[in-house]
Amino acid sequence: MKNTIIWESPSNIALIKYWGKTGIQLPCNPSLSMSLKHSVSRFELTYSPIKGGDKKLIYLFEGKENKAFEAKLSKFIDSVSNDLPCLTKYQLKISSSNTFPHSAGIASSASAMSALALCLCSMQEAIDEMEMPRDFFLQKASRIARLGSGSASRSVFGAYAIWGETEGLSNSSNDFAIPFKGNIHPIFKDLQDTILMMDSSPKKVSSTAGHALMKNHPYADARFQQARLNMSELMPALEQGDFDKFSSIVENEALSLHGLMMSSNPSYTLLKPNTLIAIERIKDFKDKTQLPITFTLDAGPNLHLLYPKENENVVQNFIEQELIELLEDGKYIQDGMGDGPQRIR
Ligand code: PMV
Repeated sequence: MKNTIIWESPSNIALIKYWGKTGIQLPCNPSLSMSLKHSVSRFELTYSPIKGGDKKLIYLFEGKENKAFEAKLSKFIDSVSNDLPCLTKYQLKISSSNTFPHSAGIASSASAMSALALCLCSMQEAIDEMEMPRDFFLQKASRIARLGSGSASRSVFGAYAIWGETEGLSNSSNDFAIPFKGNIHPIFKDLQDTILMMDSSPKKVSSTAGHALMKNHPYADARFQQARLNMSELMPALEQGDFDKFSSIVENEALSLHGLMMSSNPSYTLLKPNTLIAIERIKDFKDKTQLPITFTLDAGPNLHLLYPKENENVVQNFIEQELIELLEDGKYIQDGMGDGPQRIR
């Protein structure tokens, strides 16, 4: 159908974490993430001129009604209609699906809101009958995605993306993400991410509530400073192929995020006993083998194991022999660095 737009957009895993926001969805510190390859949301948007009495948005998730998410999307679409004036004149039918399970430690808000933002920007282009320059289009989509979910701003780009004003990067911005333009060392080019499922129960704290915990957090200033320092050291590590540095920063970021949650008021302990056991085993494995392998965590108990493609087999053996018994139903999801969103139609 002519008035149908389809985008697939990936989730991402933050290596430098965004935790704490201000103003209209602006970050308190810069963040850097890797876009995933297989964990994607697919959004299909069909639009037609709105008639009196029409509902503005009809939404289906995996073929079924989801009123709670429909209401969230509806509010978001209203909030961006100044930027995308076409939205006031059309009825939108949106259906979406994810390639990955819910509560798996893969942020569906990042993939969903980026896919939706891309659809809406493509719709504006179609209505205006004018293609935006590619860089401008992506910047706009990233800014719109950010308004839906901060981390979604980074999913508009493949490989590594940076969101937030960063010292030494004059084109970085709090309003939108930018692709990391450094010369990435081959060791980080096809980085693998195995997501180890520790527990798939629903999140105990929403990310909105999580960010709010940083408002009166006693360590807030030190945290934002730490993230800036980690940022300044992670970028050269990515270029130089310094896996030890990469690993120490990425683990520090993951554990700091959880440390902040544990020391906030109210406090949250999102790690499970098995997460901690797995972390110990990963560290022992690393010490023993001296292989480049590291881990990160999102705001939940599931671990992301990161390692270069060439070590796939040995890491697979390690998972099967030492980690599998710690995983919920022995489950893990294989993913890795991806090239970013794709327009399907
Ligand atoms: O984009 P949000 O509001 O869901 O926040 C994401 C927060 C973390 O996933 C914990 C970190 C990040 O930078 O993605």
